[in-house]
Amino acid sequence: MELFFKMPSKKARKVMCDASLELGNRPRGNEYKINAENSIKEVTGHKYARVVCSGNAAIMAVMSNLKGPIMVPDQGGWSGFMKIAKLFGLEIISVPTKMGIIHPETLDEHFKQIKPQSLFITSFAGYMAEQPVKEIYECCEDNGVILVEDASGSVGDPRGKLSCGDTAHIIVASTGSPKMVNLANGGFISTTNPKIFEDTHYILKTLQGSPVTCAGLTEEIKNAPENLLKTIKACEFLKKEIKTVLHPDKSGINVAVPVNEPKPVAKTLRKEIKVNGGGMITVCPRYDRINKPAVCLEIKNLDIRCLEENNLSEIAETVNNTI
Ligand SMILES: Cc1ncc(COP(=O)(O)O)c(C=O)c1O
Repeated sequence: MELFFKMPSKKARKVMCDASLELGNRPRGNEYKINAENSIKEVTGHKYARVVCSGNAAIMAVMSNLKGPIMVPDQGGWSGFMKIAKLFGLEIISVPTKMGIIHPETLDEHFKQIKPQSLFITSFAGYMAEQPVKEIYECCEDNGVILVEDASGSVGDPRGKLSCGDTAHIIVASTGSPKMVNLANGGFISTTNPKIFEDTHYILKTLQGSPVTCAGLTEEIKNAPENLLKTIKACEFLKKEIKTVLHPDKSGINVAVPVNEPKPVAKTLRKEIKVNGGGMITVCPRYDRINKPAVCLEIKNLDIRCLEENNLSEIAETVNNTI
């Protein structure tokens, strides 16, 4: 079995090389920026978009314009939400979840206890199970809460369920490595509410993405739908083949396997499942995934060309023999 860590596509790397030769050419730089913003708007359905230098920069720019409190899931979110909120001195409220999944029926009650100004979620709880984003959005709308969806793992969802402008007030995403739009750096923000960008001119200028990132993004975002669907399908297969997994019935882009001793299990799996150019095993408990002992198979880290059934069967067999 030969597995490869996800790399930006050849086409994206080529346009990034070409763009790097034009650094300093302002009109060309501006063209790259406008094209990238247009491609983001097309994919998210939002009216406004900005390219920034990383996913955390996108979160930072959004939070710079918020007063708080900000609400985050108690697990399965992104630790950057809390780190950046602390930098801005924003109050943080944690909402209870079922293994990372927010239940819209109880969200209303939580909003009534302490009303946050915004709710920050990732499209997939811990990358392993998709959030009921539409229902969460409706609850946010009813309560005047701004929903910020971190769509690093779901940009381009052709099913229209995640990373969709109709069901998020603001979308932020990392286009770093290894994400669905896989450029090794960069990120973006999109929204239809012009107020989100009010008074953020200076911070957006400070955090802006380079023309090279913009050129790559315009190209690589075209691959996001296929990247996402193939990764979800591979995880669906693995969730059926592996003895015990968390969230067996939910779609995700990684697979979490609960184990009592995650560190030695991860060590064995890293030896048995080699990935050229990177890794694919992470260890929990960890806020970004799940707050219980588990190992995660980060299928999202793999080049989709290696997600064939024979490789996936071998991964499942190795995991079943190790746990
Ligand atoms: C869900 C999520 N959001 C944001 C980030 C931060 O992205 P960046 O490394 O581009 O700042 C990451 C990074 O892994 C992430 O997984």
